[in-house]
Amino acid sequence: MLSATVKQCSIWLFLATSFSPASAGLSSTSGSLGYPAREIAGVSVIDTPLVRAAEDYAINHSSHAVYKHVMRSWLYGVLMINANETLLNNVDLQIHAVSTLLHDLGWYRGNSSIISPDRRFEVDGAIAARDFIQSHEDGKDWDERRVQLVWDAIALHTERSIAYFKELDVQVVSKGIQLDFSGPANGVAEDDYLAVTQAFPKDDLKDSVNNTFIWLCETKPATTYDTWMQPWGDNHVEGYSADGKRRYDIIFKNLNP
Ligand SMILES: *[C@@H]1O[C@H](CO)[C@@H](O)[C@H](O)[C@H]1NC(C)=O
Ligand SMILES: *[C@@H]1O[C@H](CO)[C@@H](O)[C@H](O)[C@H]1NC(C)=O
Ligand SMILES: *[C@@H]1O[C@H](CO)[C@@H](O)[C@H](O)[C@H]1NC(C)=O
Ligand SMILES: *[C@@H]1O[C@H](CO)[C@@H](O)[C@H](O)[C@H]1NC(C)=O
Repeated sequence: MLSATVKQCSIWLFLATSFSPASAGLSSTSGSLGYPAREIAGVSVIDTPLVRAAEDYAINHSSHAVYKHVMRSWLYGVLMINANETLLNNVDLQIHAVSTLLHDLGWYRGNSSIISPDRRFEVDGAIAARDFIQSHEDGKDWDERRVQLVWDAIALHTERSIAYFKELDVQVVSKGIQLDFSGPANGVAEDDYLAVTQAFPKDDLKDSVNNTFIWLCETKPATTYDTWMQPWGDNHVEGYSADGKRRYDIIFKNLNP
């Protein structure tokens, strides 16, 4: 309980020192929430220059389908946090927002230095998000732990068997994104969920996901062998073969009895 209180306090302090009354006054719905907020699809979200810039950055480095996916994931995550007092008291809403908005930068097919030839897309996204925070005027004030939580949340968002056992900030990013695939769960009401889906329609998610994983298996297959992405390569990419490259194939190579 103590740590919850301290954490809550640090959010308040952070906001108190980061906003002039004038800039806080721009928010429409701060009132009882205690932080500057705006409403999107009926959901009150934290509204800071850094979070706005993260959304802009996502728009600039995503297809429209992916932009809508990250927005839904953010809003579902906020609904999930609001439905659970432990999460509400402990999750840093800026870490949640920035991580979720930037979690799929590694999917961007434009001319971008974000995409590496040799790292998993989650790691490309984590590195780009860290660079984004550290180059933003307000992000420069973030301590290393907060930046690291964003990095971890993005790098691990697809590895639920790990992410769900990390810090709550890391867990909720992964779980919020998962809600875009599972439908309403984790305390999120169906009506609230539908309002988000109506504001950011999901019609293009399936093809976007399918085409992206095929593209990743085509363009950097070594980052997909032995991962959950491998089946897209096995099933849809000509010449793709993980044989001889899986841990199963090589782990005993140098181990003698
Ligand atoms: C997004 O792109 C616009 C137009 O190129 C640019 O003005 C803006 O600074 C970019 N924002 C971010 C956060 O990258
Ligand atoms: C609230 O979230 C915490 C942390 O994830 C979890 O342990 C707890 O079971 C949740 N409570 C409910 C009612 O879902
Ligand atoms: C990619 O961007 C760089 C710098 O922004 C530019 O020099 C290069 O010509 C661009 N390449 C393509 C294929 O658009
Ligand atoms: C994914 O794309 C491949 C290749 O175009 C296609 O054969 C497959 O049916 C698609 N899968 C889904 C679920 O749409």
